[in-house]
Amino acid sequence: MAQAPAARTDGSEPESGAPPAPEEAAAAGTPEGKSRRGLLIGAGLAGVAGFAAACGGGDDEGAAGGEASPSGNAGNAGGGGKALGSTSEIPVGGGKIFEAEKIVVVQPAQGQFKAYSTICPHRRCPVDAVAGGTINCPCHGSKFKIADGSVANPPADKPLEEKQITVQGDKIMLA
Ligand code: FES
Repeated sequence: MAQAPAARTDGSEPESGAPPAPEEAAAAGTPEGKSRRGLLIGAGLAGVAGFAAACGGGDDEGAAGGEASPSGNAGNAGGGGKALGSTSEIPVGGGKIFEAEKIVVVQPAQGQFKAYSTICPHRRCPVDAVAGGTINCPCHGSKFKIADGSVANPPADKPLEEKQITVQGDKIMLA
């Protein structure tokens, strides 16, 4: 008589002896129970994922924004211009026209490289040839000296616009 309440107060005997939580056991054993548990877990994960995504998105944006401008500036400051071509493509006393870049690169003297815009200052035709020490416009016959881009033959009355290039090894780069 007195033993039963004492054992119950311990709590050990009823839990170990009796089947634990009949409802839960039944639920776990049935597909319905599994799916319900799965739903609960899924909902929990979704909540965590949503929270993480919200936080992560903010962090990512901040990091990307922070990194984007310094790297962009570094790229510009580094003079990482586009490679135009090789010095071997430019004949001494002549030049080569890079149509896509709208630049003509010339070598007035051995090892001396200069570049100009291909746009003729007369009526803005693109020059199309380098010959006889001049850069020549096909539209009205203007010619420009390869040494400095100045007018060698009218009707142009202004020089070709000079462009900045750098020579790195045997590569000609846009500055
Ligand atoms: S546009 Fe070049 S000479 Fe007229």
